[in-house]
Amino acid sequence: MNNLIIKNAEQVVTCSGHKGKRGREMRELHVVENGTVVVTNGIISHVLEQGKPIPMREDEYVVLDATGKSLLPGFVDPHTHFVFGGYREEEFAWRMRGDSYMEIMNRGGGIVNTTRATREATEEELMESGRQRLNAMLRLGITTVEGKSGYGLDRETELKQLRVMRRLNDEHPVDIMPTFMGAHATPAEWKGREDEFIDFNIREMFPLVAREQLAEAVDIFCEEGVFTIEQSRRYLLAAREQGFLLKIHADEIVSFGGAELAAELGCLSADHLLQASDRGIRAMAEAGVVATLLPLTAFSLREAYARGRAMIDAGCMVALATDLNPGSSFTASVPLLFALACIYMELTPEEAVTAFTINSAAALNRADRVGSIDVGKQGDLVLLQFPSYKFLPYHVGMNIVDTVIKRGEIVVKNDL
Ligand code: NIG
Ligand code: FE
Repeated sequence: MNNLIIKNAEQVVTCSGHKGKRGREMRELHVVENGTVVVTNGIISHVLEQGKPIPMREDEYVVLDATGKSLLPGFVDPHTHFVFGGYREEEFAWRMRGDSYMEIMNRGGGIVNTTRATREATEEELMESGRQRLNAMLRLGITTVEGKSGYGLDRETELKQLRVMRRLNDEHPVDIMPTFMGAHATPAEWKGREDEFIDFNIREMFPLVAREQLAEAVDIFCEEGVFTIEQSRRYLLAAREQGFLLKIHADEIVSFGGAELAAELGCLSADHLLQASDRGIRAMAEAGVVATLLPLTAFSLREAYARGRAMIDAGCMVALATDLNPGSSFTASVPLLFALACIYMELTPEEAVTAFTINSAAALNRADRVGSIDVGKQGDLVLLQFPSYKFLPYHVGMNIVDTVIKRGEIVVKNDL
């Protein structure tokens, strides 16, 4: 039935809205004090203020008393690479010794290393590790996640990764939005023939993925030494023609013009942006491109953080994501994400919550369905052990999630 009443929450942090929020709007969380939320048949049917009678027969509902706790929309993680084979713990040690991410990539480590392991992994092995990662994310309050292919870089393995995501989406409470990332790196067999590899993706992979509806969006690693601006433009324009939404890994390592390209093409989101230029930031704000920031990656790579404060002040729609992947960010730590976003990117707690709910839903083209506590949206909710959302960045690195609700059903009850 999935009928649920959560009553007496100290705060119902609604994040109300049906599209992403820009600039100053990101401060408004539309909190209802001592509120009650009713989910009927998996969909939010009532958001009630203190003292309002509950117009339902309580015996037809599971009733949760949330006294002393705060209720938020389920978190939406709009950038991950959670389906992969193997690990890269040696590379972490090398980086700490002083090798750069790009040096390691250029000598056959990095993405290509994971590609080898992902090609070798069976579909069932990828299912099992993917499932475990989703379980961990769910316990941290993530109820919707984006997942990218891009560790196959050949026909068979790219499709295998996308099929795994489709199967996990069917069997797991977490909703998955799949993204095709055929241009994540150039595999050994195409090295030096990057343009032809882009053509292969456009001519062979896009139609295959589109025909089987295995992905909603297409993404590319636009970076010095990976794919050029020109290659990225060609690839993304072709993707749009074939009906895909557009995403781009932009300005991660060097200032490369990726943010500007995202604005030019009207990408749904541009992600990373550690080195985005002032011009790129202004262009993204004007074009309404979601700037998806990944503080756990900057932390793990010991890089300078993206300029989140400047982006919001420039009127950008900023989202946050974990970037869970085996190389640059092997973590889905939502608690650390909130702390880093506030401490180093200078987001306020309100902006950080907006960035990981309604704005991250917008980065997945799902702000009409999830990302806020509004009547008519999916009953995806996270109940915190503490009375205010302000504990999210403040209680550094601690999982303060009490209960996770997916479509009105209690799917996690953390033993706190
Ligand atoms: O988002 N930067 C490119 N892609 C991933 C890293 C992938 C990897 O290192 O395996 C990212 O950080
Ligand atoms: Fe990424």
